[in-house]
Amino acid sequence: MAFDIEMIEKVYANMAARVDKARELVGRPLTLSEKILYSHLWEGMPTQAFTRGKDYVDFAPDRVACQDATAQMALLQFMHAGKSKVAVPTTVHCDHLIQAKVGAATDLAVANTQSKEVFDFLSSVSNKYGIGFWRPGSGIIHQIVLENYAFPGGMMIGTDSHTVNAGGLGMLAIGVGGADAVDVMSGMSWELKFPKLIGVKLTGKLNGWTAPKDVILKVADILTVKGGTGAIVEYFGEGAESMSCTGKGTICNMGAEIGATTSTFGYDDSMRRYLAATGRQYVVNAADKVASYLTADKEVYANPEQYFDQLIEINLSELEPHINGPFTPDRGTPVSKMKEEAAANGWPIKVEWGLIGSCTNSSYEDMSRAASIVRQAVAHGITPKAEFGINPGSEQIRYTIERDGIIADFEKMGTKVFTNACGPCIGQWDRAGADKQEKNTIVHSFNRNFSKRADGNPNTHAFVTSPEMVAALAISGRLDFNPITDTLLNDRGEEVRLEAPKGDELPTKGFDVEDPGFQPPAADGSSVEVIVSPTSERLQLLAPFEPWDGKNITGAKLLIKAFGKCTTDHISMAGPWLRFRGHLDNISNNMLIGADNAFNRKTNAVKNQLTGAYDEVPKVQRAYKAAGIPSIVVGDHNYGEGSSREHAAMEPRFLGVKAVLVKSFARIHETNLKKQGMLALTFANEADYDKVQEDDTINFLDLTEFAPGKPLSLEFVHADGSKDIIMANHTYNEGQIGWFVAGSALNLIAAGKA
Ligand code: F3S
Repeated sequence: MAFDIEMIEKVYANMAARVDKARELVGRPLTLSEKILYSHLWEGMPTQAFTRGKDYVDFAPDRVACQDATAQMALLQFMHAGKSKVAVPTTVHCDHLIQAKVGAATDLAVANTQSKEVFDFLSSVSNKYGIGFWRPGSGIIHQIVLENYAFPGGMMIGTDSHTVNAGGLGMLAIGVGGADAVDVMSGMSWELKFPKLIGVKLTGKLNGWTAPKDVILKVADILTVKGGTGAIVEYFGEGAESMSCTGKGTICNMGAEIGATTSTFGYDDSMRRYLAATGRQYVVNAADKVASYLTADKEVYANPEQYFDQLIEINLSELEPHINGPFTPDRGTPVSKMKEEAAANGWPIKVEWGLIGSCTNSSYEDMSRAASIVRQAVAHGITPKAEFGINPGSEQIRYTIERDGIIADFEKMGTKVFTNACGPCIGQWDRAGADKQEKNTIVHSFNRNFSKRADGNPNTHAFVTSPEMVAALAISGRLDFNPITDTLLNDRGEEVRLEAPKGDELPTKGFDVEDPGFQPPAADGSSVEVIVSPTSERLQLLAPFEPWDGKNITGAKLLIKAFGKCTTDHISMAGPWLRFRGHLDNISNNMLIGADNAFNRKTNAVKNQLTGAYDEVPKVQRAYKAAGIPSIVVGDHNYGEGSSREHAAMEPRFLGVKAVLVKSFARIHETNLKKQGMLALTFANEADYDKVQEDDTINFLDLTEFAPGKPLSLEFVHADGSKDIIMANHTYNEGQIGWFVAGSALNLIAAGKA
């Protein structure tokens, strides 16, 4: 914690001067988002105004958080940075690898056995490098970050898209790929395109059945899943101040569902209350001294249309509970319209399961409001018509709600309490009968409801709603039940109406926990041994990639000419391959297996130029590697779009691909290729893509003169002996050419030259 206090005090000490300077440079009042961005510049004091949506800017985030699925490769890479400890406070959270089936005690024991080596690795590497480690069962990354680490005005990155949850405490918290996390942990800057700004003005006050969740369900309905792309959403207004801090967290969490870079709220009393209740009065004391810098300048919220790129206004007093779905979180239906919508669309009316919790909605307020509905049902003698499950967000929440009788209330309705972990939210749910793929409906308080996400069944219609609405719908067993207007029949045949939910924002007796599941790192980790079995199929220590030999690459074979869309999913598939995220050799067996071969329009079937036979892409590449022959990949437009998954760049590098030549790149993938020491090139003349033939051998002619702004010439020798010289552009600057020369950016960091 000392590390944290020091860090927070430093952020606040710098804030006033940096924000004042930024205001002068920009020449107008600043939004909260701009204040946080300008006070976290890598260069320290701002020296110029940036253009939103255009300028790429280097930032210095305050902390990093990683979840167990993405942390494996990030930490394996970090081990190569040659650092004795992380440069900024960092935590690792074991939450994704735990399946929900029977209930917490059994399920956690199973996960601890099945994924033991992964957990042991994460624990030992955390211990060694000064990283806080949260054991399996301790809770879900974003809930734990909100409870322990988030602070107003801070900036953090996390290797999970819902890192944005910490905006509930007034942070700018952003989801990134593992490679970005490694850079920041190693003491390097982190680059982001200066975001655009969307303002959401909240007037009125939530009441009755409406919850903070309905705000973001409404925003998602308005903006759609792409509407927030490249933007920060800043919420403000009397409605924002009247909401709990954890409610704000829910709203920011689902900002990921509209594609927003992140979302945030200005510092207010709800944050003070939450910080104090979670043992962080020292943050309140420090934040209060710079409070005016932790919210926008007054003029901004008075005339928001002048300062935001887009403005949305929602009156909370009129907002109805929403039920979004199925299959996409931006299809919003107000509860009063569900009867007609469900009938018109043929959605199954019977609700089979109600699931509460996840990183989105597992606050004390959420649990107590949902429990108030459950209690009414029990008191009225209503037997719930659907099954019920809860995934508490953290052990602190679970322990506290157990102490306060809330779990007992849920259990009276036969609720299964799963591990404090992601569970069904990430498809880690062994749901009985899901394999029959029957059409059915479930309701949950999670954030995503894409096809197959919860139980793998493409016919499960998953609807997202607030925890209290989940409770009501699961009790009634009907998707079209409107608790505001409809009644239920109890077991004696009497008509009963459920009262609107009531709950406590924070526990009146305070939070409590016996063992939060935290392992602090060793003060001096130099003697800690990192445990990785050489025979493991899930983990593999990385060897540094070879530096460039200083010569032109010659005799390279064309591995594949990819046609059309080639996303990071096509390059490195997810699904069953998730299991190998920590084993570069094994996961490389999925390299480009989803890419469409331009010559035969098949996936995972390319010509092996050594034998003339067609085979799977990884196998052909391994044959070239074994023969010591380099290769190149050719691609179409926007190659590598999708996620920031670094495996999509590491796999080709590992298997011996030297260059990727495409019509255009998705920018993050292009950077990832550069970081791994690959050549990321684009056709100077796009039509040259058509000149590339299946049996081509490629020679670089002037790689020895590799320099910023200077195109490279590649000689393509065709099977009939004819040749084409193809010019390739690149965007490498001096520093990035250094990455290529050293073999990777990490090699350069390890050599102390970055
Ligand atoms: Fe986990 Fe689902 Fe949140 S996967 S991190 S609970 S979005």
